[in-house]
Amino acid sequence: MKLTEIFKKKKSVPRANPVTETDVKSPSASATGQQQTTAQTFLNKNGDQKPTPVVSRAGLDEEDLDILAKQGSTKPEIVDPNKAVADGMTVLDVVAPKTFEIDFDYIKINGVYFRTLFVSGYPRFVSPGWLEQIINFDSSLDISFYVYPVEVKGVLEDLRHKIAEMEAEIATDLERGRIVNATTQAKLDDAQLLQEELVKGSEHFYEFAFYITIPAQDLEDLNDITKQVQATLGSLLVSAQAATLDMENGFYSTLPFAADRLSITRNMDTTSLSTTFPLTSAELSSDSGVLYGINPLNESFVIFDRFSMENSNMAIFATSGAGKSYFVKLESLRSLMLGTEVIIIDPEAEYKDLCAAVGGQYITFSYSSLSKINPFDLSQIYEEGENQLGLKVLSLHALFKVIMGALNPMQEALLDHALVETYRAKGITQDPATQKKEPPLMEDLYKILVGMETEPALDLAARIEKFVKGSFIGIFDQQTNVEINNPFTVFSVREVQDALRPIAMFIILEFIWTKVKRDLKKRLLVVDEAWHMMRYPDSAQFMWSIVKRARKYYLGLTTITQDVEDFLTQDIGKAIVTNSAIRLLLKQSPAAIDRVAEVFYLSQGEKQLLLGANIGEGIFFAGNHHVPIYIVSSPEEHKLISTKPADVIRKQQEEALAKKEKEKIDAAPVLQTNKTVASPDFAKNASVVAISTPVNIGIATTAPPDIFDKKVDLTQKSPADVQKTIANKQ
Ligand SMILES: Nc1ncnc2c1ncn2[C@@H]1O[C@H](COP(=O)(O)OP(=O)(O)OP(=O)(O)O)[C@@H](O)[C@H]1O
Ligand SMILES: [Mg+2]
Repeated sequence: MKLTEIFKKKKSVPRANPVTETDVKSPSASATGQQQTTAQTFLNKNGDQKPTPVVSRAGLDEEDLDILAKQGSTKPEIVDPNKAVADGMTVLDVVAPKTFEIDFDYIKINGVYFRTLFVSGYPRFVSPGWLEQIINFDSSLDISFYVYPVEVKGVLEDLRHKIAEMEAEIATDLERGRIVNATTQAKLDDAQLLQEELVKGSEHFYEFAFYITIPAQDLEDLNDITKQVQATLGSLLVSAQAATLDMENGFYSTLPFAADRLSITRNMDTTSLSTTFPLTSAELSSDSGVLYGINPLNESFVIFDRFSMENSNMAIFATSGAGKSYFVKLESLRSLMLGTEVIIIDPEAEYKDLCAAVGGQYITFSYSSLSKINPFDLSQIYEEGENQLGLKVLSLHALFKVIMGALNPMQEALLDHALVETYRAKGITQDPATQKKEPPLMEDLYKILVGMETEPALDLAARIEKFVKGSFIGIFDQQTNVEINNPFTVFSVREVQDALRPIAMFIILEFIWTKVKRDLKKRLLVVDEAWHMMRYPDSAQFMWSIVKRARKYYLGLTTITQDVEDFLTQDIGKAIVTNSAIRLLLKQSPAAIDRVAEVFYLSQGEKQLLLGANIGEGIFFAGNHHVPIYIVSSPEEHKLISTKPADVIRKQQEEALAKKEKEKIDAAPVLQTNKTVASPDFAKNASVVAISTPVNIGIATTAPPDIFDKKVDLTQKSPADVQKTIANKQ
């Protein structure tokens, strides 16, 4: 965008908010050297330089004043402002600083140095948010903008003269055979454009003043920060100068009094002015929610409550190892602490340690494991106007299409008929009363199909035979025996064969979905490696149906995908992204970046950021906002969730060491003799004592110091000693 560079600074233009106050003190007064003024003088606008004897009004006599003068201060320490006011001191005197020292190029108030800069030159072109670097500057700054609307009539008059002048200059150059001054030509173009826009009313005209006051603890700091600010502005082609010899007015202009005492302005049209709006820096920090990471632009926290969005779904895309699962584990852990239940489908068995650490339930599905889910289970939810059995048959239809592969219309009809028959054989019909009966199993469907004795039915039966007789037997062909009753539940499908994984995930998701619908709670459901579900149109469709309806059931569904291309080329994949209010992009591969950029409307800069991102770095989208992010964890969190081989080995070594130490403690001689004496009840009481008085219990001389931080089993101590400890406690 363009900053109109037409006029030199003019003071004669009528303003909406003219500054009429005169200076407190002329700069030349301070030019003679350092001066001390009282606080009273600072606030006194009538130019009276004489220190007002404020202190005497606070009840101090001459002697007190002498002492204060020796201390270099003319204002007493005000301990109790109420008392000072009651003693006759004015409120202004109470709140005013103790000392106020004015020098050529800084002022010093109560020992803090301040320097004011004013902006004197602006670039011709700027982009919106160009002040971001200064707003997010790494040191505190007081920044003031003054915007004065200017009457267009006067501006147009000036513009007319200016244009005429410039046209005359160009005409003269041409007449004399000289090359036209390019700057004049550019200015003329700008002026004509502005004239046109002002006449049409599409732009207005303003004067703009921009001041920065820099505070610092000492002069050296002040000079350093001043240089940095000037350099930062310089990189934006903005020139800023210190308000030398006018520091007091400069300082005053950046106080929140809306009093521009420097009055150094620059003309701007509406478009140019709009680019100075300072709050474009992306920040996603809300009062509630969990910490997702840190915004590297301004080091602000990205704290967000995903349940505050129009839907709570999240989609995560990145290359392998970029930190997707790590991010989700952190979010799960932190959400759990805030009372959100978490359910995870874990195809890599990488959530196991985390699950154990939070006391969660870890359910493994494999041929040999005891956990079973029967896909024929009925939800037992009766919603007005809904036919539970009908809905179940529909969802089974989708599942069996994934299991059986492509079906022609005749086979589909046959399957539909067989499913209804299977339920009927168990006495289950559309009557809700019958739906409490034990549901059928995969084997029942198989038998029904075989019993039909037609070739297409036998063909279908053959396709599910492996689940009831063959290699896939044992997982989904028995009655359900798992329940989600832990706030942190993980379903692991790592043991399941790759080909079976989408089927397993489908069945587990259906099971979870039923539970989610049955009792309403704030929940997160994480589907790691969600691209497995996108491999078949029917399982993808099922994912999509959950994404669409999750909001109603207080569920936030997180889908994690490394296969971006696969996911985003499908319409359903794109729909899932569109229906996820929160999205996270971490490192992307060059092959996938264009597809990602297209779906997420990324700029060139954002594409570069994602291509060059390190582990845990990316862009976090929440609704219409997005910020760059890097994901941070505490060392304790990292230990729990990292799957890096080096971290895993270190953890194993630490565990082995801890185990060895425990064995050493167990083997300590004093512990052996009494171990058998303690009764279980006694042990219970004793361990309670152990927690409340850990330091008093020196159980083994060989124990390392940190044993006292742990719960000590007192059954290993002499019962007599322990009883004594309990008696002492009581
Ligand atoms: N923000 C982070 N800070 C520190 N280490 C991280 C961070 N993110 C990831 N890591 C490290 O990188 C490892 C791999 O990350 P993660 O398991 O999240 O990858 P992923 O994107 O899920 O990969 P895949 O698609 O293969 O599952 C983690 O185990 C951890 O050690
Ligand atoms: Mg992962």
